[in-house]
Amino acid sequence: ATIQWFPGHMTKARRQIEDKLKLIDIVIELLDARIPLSSRNPMIGEITKGKPRLVLLNKADLADPARTAEWVSYFARVEGLDALPLDAVSGNQVKEIVPRAKKLWAHKIEAMLRKGVTPRAVRALIVGIPNVGKSTLTNTLAGRKIAATGDRPGVTKGQQWIKVGSGEMDLLDTPGILWPKFEDQQVGLRLAATGAIKEDILSLDEIAFFTVRYLCEEYPDALKERYDLERLPDDLTEASEVVDVMEAIGRKRGAVMSGGRIDLDKTSLLILRDLRAGKMGRITLERPPAETAEAE
Ligand code: G4P
Repeated sequence: ATIQWFPGHMTKARRQIEDKLKLIDIVIELLDARIPLSSRNPMIGEITKGKPRLVLLNKADLADPARTAEWVSYFARVEGLDALPLDAVSGNQVKEIVPRAKKLWAHKIEAMLRKGVTPRAVRALIVGIPNVGKSTLTNTLAGRKIAATGDRPGVTKGQQWIKVGSGEMDLLDTPGILWPKFEDQQVGLRLAATGAIKEDILSLDEIAFFTVRYLCEEYPDALKERYDLERLPDDLTEASEVVDVMEAIGRKRGAVMSGGRIDLDKTSLLILRDLRAGKMGRITLERPPAETAEAE
């Protein structure tokens, strides 16, 4: 579900998260492993008001494992955040969440023990942009299907706690919905390429063009193999070179119109479908920022 974000929606979404923050100990920030920073809300630190935060890199099954490892080290080194790659659908690594969450809260547990208080479960809230996998993860953690939460910032219902693990974590059943950084065009293209935002915001061929150029640069072998291409251009600074690759793909896949012209819309759609379904292999569309551009 895609939300049309307006300033009013953002204010409302933010207020809803602030209400939930009062109830919880730690924030679980869900990101897309293929585009970790592009799938992030730019104001996350401010919005969550310095609550301890665990980063989850979801859809790691679709992401390049070598890049995912670089991202984990980026979050540790640059942001001091523990980042765990996982797949909410298959449940791979989901069992790691509770121990990681408890670690973030260990000092509080120790303090309770020192005061002679029996430690309670750590209370957590999942936050993330639409389509990042919040409901899937909630269901996987609950071990059952939680009723749809209404993927709109205006829709509320009573909060409920989901018991996770052997009673060690309590999770709020309604995740916090955040907006991405859509002012940035590159971010928009990455979000559209992965399917996080609908195609109608950017044009289909624009998204496919961006994707093909990126694949030519970063994953040339995957592209050649998927579409049985002999060679790719060496110089991709010319837009026409990228369009040539798209046309070659269209020709191979029979996306040809009457008169023999390549149907670029159809070609774009099949490239994006293949990418999102992992048909080109595991691909990450964003690299961690260079060390010199470190966040303070
Ligand atoms: P949300 O609540 O954050 O909005 O996201 P939701 O759980 O609805 O998940 C969005 C889509 O992402 C779903 O696909 C879901 O199956 C997929 N997804 C979630 N986690 C993972 C994961 O770890 N790996 C993979 N490969 N996919 C994951 P969908 O229902 O098919 O929606 P769509 O593809 O039509 O958008």
